[in-house]
Amino acid sequence: MAATAGSSLAQTAIPRLVEQNGRHALMVDGAPFTVLGAQVNNSSNYPAPLALAWPAVHHVGANTVQVPIAWEQIEPVEGQFDFSFVDHLVQEARRNDVRLVILWFATWKNTAPKYAPAWVKLNPARFPHLIQKDGSESYAMSPYGRETLAADARAFAALMRHIRQIDERQRTVIMVQPENEVGTYGSVRDYSPAAQAAFEGPVPQALLDRTGRSPGSWSSVFGEEAEEFFHAWSIASYVEAVAAAGKAEYALPMYVNAALTDPLKRVAPTNYASGGPVWPVIDVWKAAAPSISLLAPDIYDRGSDSYEGTLGHYARPDNALFVAETGNDPSFGRFLFSVLGRGGVGYSAFGIDYTGYANWPLGSKAVTPETLTPLKTSYAVMRPWGRVWARAAWEGRVWGVAEPDDRSEQKIDLGDWTARVRYRLWQFGLPEWTWLGEQGPATGTENPNGGVIIAQLDNPGEFFVSGMHARVDFEAKASTDGKRRMVVRYEEGHFDEAGKWVFERIWNGDQTDYGLNFTDRPQLLRVVTATY
Ligand code: DGJ
Repeated sequence: MAATAGSSLAQTAIPRLVEQNGRHALMVDGAPFTVLGAQVNNSSNYPAPLALAWPAVHHVGANTVQVPIAWEQIEPVEGQFDFSFVDHLVQEARRNDVRLVILWFATWKNTAPKYAPAWVKLNPARFPHLIQKDGSESYAMSPYGRETLAADARAFAALMRHIRQIDERQRTVIMVQPENEVGTYGSVRDYSPAAQAAFEGPVPQALLDRTGRSPGSWSSVFGEEAEEFFHAWSIASYVEAVAAAGKAEYALPMYVNAALTDPLKRVAPTNYASGGPVWPVIDVWKAAAPSISLLAPDIYDRGSDSYEGTLGHYARPDNALFVAETGNDPSFGRFLFSVLGRGGVGYSAFGIDYTGYANWPLGSKAVTPETLTPLKTSYAVMRPWGRVWARAAWEGRVWGVAEPDDRSEQKIDLGDWTARVRYRLWQFGLPEWTWLGEQGPATGTENPNGGVIIAQLDNPGEFFVSGMHARVDFEAKASTDGKRRMVVRYEEGHFDEAGKWVFERIWNGDQTDYGLNFTDRPQLLRVVTATY
């Protein structure tokens, strides 16, 4: 029955990242999907610690888990591959009903080769390090190491081939991240002879086309930024070759994550990992690495201005927004709403397992059900209608905000309507009422933790609204057509499996007299407006 065996393969569509009119969707099982992610700790890529991830993953309600696969783990001896953990991981993900994003820790992990096999690390003659300006060796590998690239690409291709063999029917694995936080600390670029020769050569045509510059040497075309642009090109070209080798085996969407620079001002590349996909070099990466579907920020800065600034840099018509990593402490969960409101395809918190490790000060001091509860609340708001939301982000219109650090109110422009969003209010009454005595801020709002999301689907007069720790007032804008506007109904309900709205009740009276008040209880409302 060869035909049957053959046709039992590839029953579901391969995951793809698609773009139309500057909007993006990650297609999983043939439809837009929102990643509500959890990344395990760096050394949880073995069966025993992985077992301690699932309770945390279920507690937060993630639908996708990011797990590293280390080069040293799958090719401990050159040419001999061991995929036993990959097999275990895919089975476990299926048993736990989540999708997977595989992180390939190889030539660069946080810029260093620590996850490369010993046979690579112990042979710098064959696998050279980058040379710094003073002629000394860097800790980081050179992007001009031809044998390093060949070996890394070979191992990654073998990994992708294996994933295809075990998963092309079920598509548990939906994305892959080749390398991790690439770039170099301490040296703006590589000064090895091969790198120097390339630096003295012409800027490649693809980059000229992308940036609209005229031909010339790196220095003449890019001036002060030439060294960083060159290094970004060098690393991106290497990652492109690795990704292309993997995609030739199994063409899953691939992305590269970024160790960030200051989003609010341009600082010198000596202050961050030079050559990585930081915002000033996004175009360089786009030109050099067409096999990379998106560039993704790793956001650990809790400041709301900084967080929003980074989101603004990476949410572009030519780059789908995906927060590949973010902190796991209570202050970060609310930013999910800002990511999704900008049309992002997903968001993933880092360090989601109960292995006892905590990466404070980037995340919580301890990872416990209690510290993970705000993330759980954010995911609970989104998960029941994640598919509907992703379709709205792809075909319709979406908005979202996260509470700013100064707790100030926000206005969302919805066309004929404005959504006024306020924080720290109780569910009943107005803050200006004094006859009840000073109410004070609502319990549970000591630190910023609010957010609101709004989607418009097929009917332009309707909005779907949800959030946490926030009050939303729908305010009609001044009429331009002589007609008056009102909200005729606030319905609470949910979407069923088929994406059909299921009515539960109408909100009225106290539930709407003082705006729509969201707490930590996931509630989804359909706001039906009308003109008269
Ligand atoms: C960003 C890296 O990509 C992660 O692997 C991890 O090292 C965090 N930083 C810090 O916990």
